Amino acid sequence: MRLPVLATTLSLLSLLPRSALASVLAIDYGTDWIKASVMSPGIPFDVLLNKDSKRKMQASVGWKKTDRLFGTDAFNLASRFPSDSFSSIKYLQAAPFDSDIVSYYTSISTADVVKTARNTVALKQADGNEWSVEELVGMQFSYVKQLAEALAEEKVTDVIVTVPPFYSQFQRDAVVDAIEIAGLRTLALINDGTAVAVNYAMTRTFPTPEYHIVFDAGASSIRATVVSFSTSNSTSGTQITVAGVGYDLTTGGTELDRRLREILIEAFNTKNKRDIHEDPRGMAKLWKEAGRIKTILSANTEATATVESLAWDIDFKTKITRASFEAACEDMKDRFAKPIDDALRNAGLTLENVTSVILTGGSTRTPMIQAAVRAAVGDEKIALNVNADEAAVLGAALHGASLSRQFKTKNIKVTDINPFDIQASYLATSASPLAKPRTITTVVFPGGSKSGTKKTLTFKRKEDFVINFDYKTPVAPGFPTRFMEVEITGIAEAIANLTELGASDPVVKATLTMSESGFVSVSNAIAFGEIKDESIAGKLKGFFGAGSSSADGEESTPEKAPPRESDSSSSASATPSGASNSTPEKEKDEKNKKPTPKDNTISLNITVVFPTIPPMTVEHKKNARSRLRAIDLDEAAVARKEEARNSFESYLYRMRDLLDEENRDTPFKQCSQESERKALAAKLEESFVWLHDRGDVAETSQFLDKRNAIEILERPIVHRYQEIEAFPQALNSSQMWNWSTRLFLQDARTNMTADAAADQPSKWTTAELDALEKTLKEHEAWLDEWVEKQKKVKMNQDPVIETTEMRARAKVLETALARLVKRKVPKMAKKTKTTSETESTTASPAAETSSAATEATAAAETSTTAAGAQETVIPTPPVAPEGKPYDEL
Ligand SMILES: *[C@@H]1O[C@H](CO)[C@@H](O)[C@H](O)[C@H]1NC(C)=O
Ligand SMILES: *[C@@H]1O[C@H](CO)[C@@H](O)[C@H](O)[C@H]1NC(C)=O
Ligand SMILES: *[C@@H]1O[C@H](CO)[C@@H](O)[C@H](O)[C@H]1NC(C)=O
Ligand SMILES: *[C@@H]1O[C@H](CO)[C@@H](O)[C@H](O)[C@H]1NC(C)=O
Ligand SMILES: *[C@@H]1O[C@H](CO)[C@@H](O)[C@H](O)[C@H]1NC(C)=O
Ligand SMILES: *[C@@H]1O[C@H](CO)[C@@H](O)[C@H](O)[C@H]1NC(C)=O
Ligand SMILES: *[C@@H]1O[C@H](CO)[C@@H](O)[C@H](O)[C@H]1NC(C)=O
Repeated sequence: MRLPVLATTLSLLSLLPRSALASVLAIDYGTDWIKASVMSPGIPFDVLLNKDSKRKMQASVGWKKTDRLFGTDAFNLASRFPSDSFSSIKYLQAAPFDSDIVSYYTSISTADVVKTARNTVALKQADGNEWSVEELVGMQFSYVKQLAEALAEEKVTDVIVTVPPFYSQFQRDAVVDAIEIAGLRTLALINDGTAVAVNYAMTRTFPTPEYHIVFDAGASSIRATVVSFSTSNSTSGTQITVAGVGYDLTTGGTELDRRLREILIEAFNTKNKRDIHEDPRGMAKLWKEAGRIKTILSANTEATATVESLAWDIDFKTKITRASFEAACEDMKDRFAKPIDDALRNAGLTLENVTSVILTGGSTRTPMIQAAVRAAVGDEKIALNVNADEAAVLGAALHGASLSRQFKTKNIKVTDINPFDIQASYLATSASPLAKPRTITTVVFPGGSKSGTKKTLTFKRKEDFVINFDYKTPVAPGFPTRFMEVEITGIAEAIANLTELGASDPVVKATLTMSESGFVSVSNAIAFGEIKDESIAGKLKGFFGAGSSSADGEESTPEKAPPRESDSSSSASATPSGASNSTPEKEKDEKNKKPTPKDNTISLNITVVFPTIPPMTVEHKKNARSRLRAIDLDEAAVARKEEARNSFESYLYRMRDLLDEENRDTPFKQCSQESERKALAAKLEESFVWLHDRGDVAETSQFLDKRNAIEILERPIVHRYQEIEAFPQALNSSQMWNWSTRLFLQDARTNMTADAAADQPSKWTTAELDALEKTLKEHEAWLDEWVEKQKKVKMNQDPVIETTEMRARAKVLETALARLVKRKVPKMAKKTKTTSETESTTASPAAETSSAATEATAAAETSTTAAGAQETVIPTPPVAPEGKPYDEL
């Protein structure tokens, strides 16, 4: 077997405590737009806002010299730095360098496309830096992660990401790799139509089962998902089952933009007798303009395109009608609604079975697409009842939250499907050594089969062998069909050992998993033989189904996997490294279910090879991650410097205002001396000059040091002000303890005398009361003396007693008092005891004040000795003319 046991145990230990309060991030990663949502305790469930408080962010990364930009800023860079702005990156996920989609990409983008060592695509900046598609997507995920962490105020690690239902294992691997590069952990991938269905079910119940179609017209494709919804009763929740999908990879918003730009290009070239294709900046400007015009034409029948200085200093202006745009898209019209037919056919249903067609995706706003759908399904079926932009991300977040099991969510169960025929092939054992080897091919997961299932293949083998996994047909033009080769080894020894033990006809069983996130893997392989010992054989029968296999391995047993289990294998299969991603509890479920290996089952080794488009290796990902981290650190350092500079600058301005001659009688002025203000003014002047001369080249620490140098001068003034503010309260508290102690002493002495007269024991001894009185007298004497002295101190002189010391001294008295107040009456006659106990706990005024004041003084904690001698105080609550705080003018 592969590594798992140890790895699983480790991750179990390290992850469980943290996952107890983890937030869940959901990302709807589109070709044009990124939407995100974070589920976190105490945060309202909503779409995550970006730095400009927008609910969606353009899926672009770019560089302006050394500054990395995201979103619209990055997108807009293209018209000035066409090879440093990267958009529509989703097209390139896992795309082989020479596939159709890459050449299409070069027709819409000005970015420089290069080949990676894995034969996939990287994009090259003007300065020669190359970034793999996974790294660029990872940067965006990481950026979203930072936004989410700022909102949740904690680390965010678990993420669920939407993918189109037609994403193959290659593309799903590319998404998971990007997630890992971003420092996130894959909770699951969810098909976007399914996510919309979850969102739809959030606020609805379906007492009678209903079918709906989620029609999603995005930028790079159009897809339709037929979903059944049913709520049998409130405890079992709502069941969502995907029944069929259909899609078209050649239509969508981007292609419409491209057609529109062709019109603009034609107009420009004809008029100016030059080819705009020669100018990448001009092409980028036209791309942006085409997008703008498309939006206008969605609401108007004509629009005017204008680009100043498009290229060669030529201003461009032309009028475009919706009719001409639609004419240019005429050939696509039949394809807009076709995914609906395909999805229905795959589901074995007709339109009559469908309650509504739910429109989502930005391109459903384009009139010709909406018209095509209306024509195909009829107006009455069209539903505009989910948010076209946000339904997918909100549904994904809800699903992620329910997977993480940390949030109480509406009980919605999801069963998705795999749209492709997936087949396994292997060489048959040949009857004679001379016979030509025969390849056996079998469809293990037919298109339309449920995700989150397992299947066991049984083989009669004596030697190691390889199972190859293929898509029956290419998932997109130029993509390979083979995605995985799995070698099962250790067979000879295992079979020999089983035979030794008396097993008859030992066989090899391989368990194939189709995870809920859509990954195929071989999750387990064993050698198994029935041993003619009834007791053991009987027990094991239940686990593997009755009967040993007959021929060479075609017996396959579909098994419904426990739904949660398969997600862990999704990540495991995504990474050759094995269980790095697995979710602990899930692994545990699986382990508990498995039979403990008996003598008649022996685990075999599984080696996975990715022969065509391999996912990134652990090493690759580590390098990518450190590249990204290095940028993050640099950016953080720049941000800190910026922050230090800004805060230094505003501090200087604030000080200058405080020093301003105009502002008389401010607390600052009242608490400061002429000489201090002079010194501050001089330092301030010097700092302004320094900021002007050196501000652009200075280090973060210099800003902090410079600020500190001024703060040292300001500090005594601030301190005086704070002391003046705090003094009345401190004095009040001191006097209150003085007062309560005196009251207590009087009372206690009276009672003592009474107790003595009644021949009752007393709570205190005379010595104790004398000691308290002494402490009280000392406190009073100190207070009298120093309050007198403090009275003579001017506002702009340092106080002679500190409020901290006053509080500390009051605390000493309080402690001494509290010790005696708490005293219980000594044991004696039963009756008296009960009475006096009640009295001492309820009635004593000293005891009541005690607890209240303990809180009040609890903060003050300084030495009781402390502070030297000087002078004076302010008698009445002083300061702040018209109640203004110190630094308000
Ligand atoms: C709800 O449905 C589930 C399964 O459909 C069933 O096991 C359960 O007993 C039902 N509960 C109620 C209250 O009807
Ligand atoms: C779909 O509709 C047809 C015709 O109304 C009906 O015969 C069939 O049972 C329906 N199928 C389902 C699954 O509801
Ligand atoms: C199985 O893998 C383990 C660990 O890589 C290795 O030590 C062992 O020799 C392998 N067994 C066989 C039969 O290949
Ligand atoms: C086969 O049996 C031998 C001897 O008992 C043992 O050392 C070896 O580990 C066994 N191999 C497997 C794969 O169980
Ligand atoms: C002193 O504190 C008491 C109790 O908190 C309060 O009622 C009284 O107004 C205070 N006196 C002054 C001068 O702050
Ligand atoms: C003194 O006795 C009176 C009456 O029993 C009681 O209310 C009061 O709390 C006692 N004082 C002290 C300080 O215990
Ligand atoms: C202490 O309290 C007594 C009684 O309330 C009062 O007469 C005296 O002035 C107080 N002394 C000081 C220093 O506050």
